[in-house]
Order: sequence, then C-alpha cells, then structure tokens
Amino acid sequence: MNGLYRTIAGRTRSGRFFAKALAEGARSSTLCVNAKSGLLARAGLRWQCSNTFPRIGSDPFNMFERLPTSLHPNALRISSGVRAQHSSTVASPILADASPVQGKELQTEHTEQHRQDHQEEAPSKPIVGWWYLFSGSLVFGIVAIGGLTRLTESGLSIVEWNLIKGMKPPRSQQEWEEEFEKYKQFPEYKLLNHHMTLPEFKSIFYMEWAHRMVGRFIGLSFIIPGAYFAYKGHMSKIIRNRSLLVAALIGGQGLLGWYMVKSGLSDEIMEKAHAVPRVSHYWLAAHLGSAFTIYSIMLVTGLDILRANKAKAIENLRLILKHADVIKFRRYAIGTAGLVFLTAMSGAFVAGLDAGLIYNEFPKMGEGYVPSDMWAMSTRTERNPNPGPFWKDLLENPSAVQFNHRVLAMTTASSVGALWLYSRRVKLPRNARLAVNALLAMAGVQVTLGITTLLYLVPVPLAAAHQSGSLTLLSIALWLMHTLRYVKR
Ligand code: HEM
Repeated sequence: MNGLYRTIAGRTRSGRFFAKALAEGARSSTLCVNAKSGLLARAGLRWQCSNTFPRIGSDPFNMFERLPTSLHPNALRISSGVRAQHSSTVASPILADASPVQGKELQTEHTEQHRQDHQEEAPSKPIVGWWYLFSGSLVFGIVAIGGLTRLTESGLSIVEWNLIKGMKPPRSQQEWEEEFEKYKQFPEYKLLNHHMTLPEFKSIFYMEWAHRMVGRFIGLSFIIPGAYFAYKGHMSKIIRNRSLLVAALIGGQGLLGWYMVKSGLSDEIMEKAHAVPRVSHYWLAAHLGSAFTIYSIMLVTGLDILRANKAKAIENLRLILKHADVIKFRRYAIGTAGLVFLTAMSGAFVAGLDAGLIYNEFPKMGEGYVPSDMWAMSTRTERNPNPGPFWKDLLENPSAVQFNHRVLAMTTASSVGALWLYSRRVKLPRNARLAVNALLAMAGVQVTLGITTLLYLVPVPLAAAHQSGSLTLLSIALWLMHTLRYVKR
C-alpha cells in the first residue's frame, strides 16, 4: 500500500475501505477520484488523476463491483453513502489493469450480486424468532387470565395503578384491611359486594394482581432480551423497528387496561337506575383488541423469522406461491382471518355487556331469528320517548350485540367452510393444507363452545374456553396466512 492510501485510510472510513480493498488484491492499481469535494475531500485531500483508463459503464461507482466478493458488504455501505452525498465532483474511479472485456463479464456478475446484496439484508437470528414466539405464548396466557379475571368479577378489586409499588401485595393484616377499605369506596362494593368478607376480597385481589404481574413480566421479558438482541446485531432493521412498535404497544396495553378499570370505578354508575358496576364494553373491546393485535404480530413475526432462516424452504415456497390460484386462495385466507378478528371483537362486546345472559337459546332468539327488541334504543315508544340513532342499538343494546355476534360468527364459520372447500382445488404447500384443515376443525369447536356457553348461561369454564378458543382460531388463521406468504426476513 503506498503512502497516499495509508493517508486516506487513516482519515476516513471510506478511505480505510479503499486501502483494504487494494491490500486484499483488488485489481485496481489506480484509484482516480477528483477530490475537489466529495469523499476524499472530506479527508482533506486534493488529488487529481489523469483519466487515462476507460470508465466502467455509466456508474462511477462500478469499481465496487469489481472488488473481491468478500468486500461487498463494505462496498455497499460506502457506495450507498457516497450516493447519498453524491456530487458531480466525484468523477470516475478507474480500474487500471482490467481489460474492458474482462471488466464487462465481471461487471454483469457482480452487478447482480450487488443488487441482491443491496436489497436483501440478512434475516434476524432464529433466537429472535423463538423469543417472539415465546412472548406470543405469554400474551396468549395473559388473555386467558384476563378472561378469568373478568368472569370471576375480580377486575375492579385493585383501585390504583402503580407500576412499581403495585408489585407488592399487602402482607400484614393491617395492610390487607387498608386495601379492603380502599375497595369499599367504589361502586362495585357498594352496589354488588357489600356482604363481601376479607378472605373473599383476598381471592379477587390475587386474581387481578396475578393478571397485572404477568403483564409486567411480559413487558420486561420483551424489552430486556429485545434490547440485548438489538445491541448484539441479531435483528434485521425491519425487525428492530417492529420490536420498538411492539414494545410501545405493550406499554399502551397497560394504559388501556388501567383506563378500562377506571371506567368501572366511576361514581356515575351509582346515579343510574338498575346500573351494574362493570367496565365500559368499549374499553374492554379496545383492551382485548390490542392484546389480539400484539399477539398476532408476535406470532407472525416469530414464524416469519424462523422460516427466513431456512433458505431451501423459502425457495420451494417462492415457486408454489407464484400460482394465480394460490394467490387468490391467500386473499380469501386473509379475509377469513379478518373475519375471525372482527367476530372476536364483537364477542368482547357480548362479554362486556353481559349479553350472554339473555336469549339463552339457539338458533332462535325468542320468537324469531332476530330479537324483537333489536332496535329498542332507536325506536320511539312510550318507555323510550327520545330514541337514539340506530348505531346505538348495534353497539350498546345487548340483544342487538348478541345478534351481531351470532351473525358474524356464522359468517366466519361459513367462510372457513368455503375456504376449506376451495383448498381442495388448489395445490397448496403441505403445511398450508394442514393449517386449513385445522382451521375448519377449530371453527367447529369454537362455534360449539359459543353455543354451549350461551345455552348454559355463561359458566366460567365454558366461557373461558370459548375466549381462549377465539385466540386459538385466530392463531391458526394467522398460521395459514404465514404459510402462504413469501417473506425474505
Ligand atoms: C367464529 C366463532 C366465534 C368467535 C371467534 C367468538 C369469539 C368470542 C370472544 C373473543 C368473546 C369474548 C370473550 C371474553 O372476552 O371473555 C366471545 C364471547 C361470547 N360468545 Fe363468541 N365467538 C364465536 C362464536 C360464538 C357463537 C356461535 C356463539 C353462540 C351463539 C357465541 C356466544 C358467545 C357468548 C355468549 C359470549 C359471552 C361470554 C362471556 O360473557 O364471557 N360465540 N366470543
């Protein structure tokens, strides 16, 4: 390496690259850069060389494509950096001792390589995929715990929210009594639980406390390893950004949970006749919807990362997924997954309004298939002289909300059936076939669980199974989508 390169190498990152390239045997012996400004100018160098050698192609940066392959990642970094601040003053880097013909061959080969390298970042490490799946399984668990918390009416037992202090449950008798006293100030105790004893309070307290502790654990178990993986460079850029989003969503989930609880602590409930102290079904649906969203991102991301590490599997998939039939099938599968999500959200409305405690029959609702009080809130009657808009019924009338859930559930189940029938006619990847079969089976289980939950007036075990069933159904729908999706990282 001559003195000039050493000087460049010592002063800029790109200079180090040039020097390294030459030291490792790049065929160029002259590197010609007009450095009035641009790359070398940043190193404080002014170096004018004669344009005696032919320029390669129209791209002054083609020299990178002629360097040994081992240097390409570096070359890419620098070339894109240069492009970003590209100015016409950076003239033509010329490779002195490559013949034009030889240069052309090399150029084609390396240009392709260059393009691919530039587009395809290495996938995240498999451990990141496993971590996403583990976090997803924790979210599944907390959804089930949340369902139990609601069904055992424990959710309003802790009337404060403190991220750190809230971790310590009361220990002494005095602490327990103080906590119980706080609970007594709120409508749930005053209207529903005024006969409650301290041991009974302890059991609902522990249920809610466990729910919140698992929430904290999920936050930490996502953020700490995540920061470590990012620091170690185990994540691709896209996954790093997605992880930030998921971490924010987890934080937001805690906030949503607290606002949900607060909606059930409001004293306004005391002023309404026949009011039942419970959280707003809108907040409940938002909290459940956000949990389902976080879970979906974790599941799909985990599966994607693990597959991105299996080059052969990706290649086979790439070929199958090109078929028009498969593309069409995939669209239907996405639509069906969307329907499952929507049905689950309408289920949260049923749960939030205790709408499973009326019309405990199936398929009819009273005399007909549509409940007679479907539009009770928006119809003028003697008892309702000031009717609201029709959407109030759709969102707040328990009869209409249950009806909507039935209709959506049946639509979802029929779409799953149709998707399954369609799958018989399409040549699918093996695990996509497995997923679509599992989807059909699980849709059957879920509808059966829903109907029995209704017929038996929402017993805790059936309602909890129905809730977890909905997330299982969504998981299978997402898995099916994943098997039909081509992802690189
Ligand atoms: C694709 C099918 C279905 C899905 C995805 C689904 C999903 C859900 C979800 C997520 C909940 C909220 C659970 C909670 O937060 O605790 C729910 C509640 C409920 N669903 Fe479904 N459901 C389906 C079918 C049905 C069917 C066919 C019926 C009966 C006709 C039904 C009846 C109910 C009832 C009564 C509740 C309230 C249970 C409670 O209060 O905990 N579901 N559903």
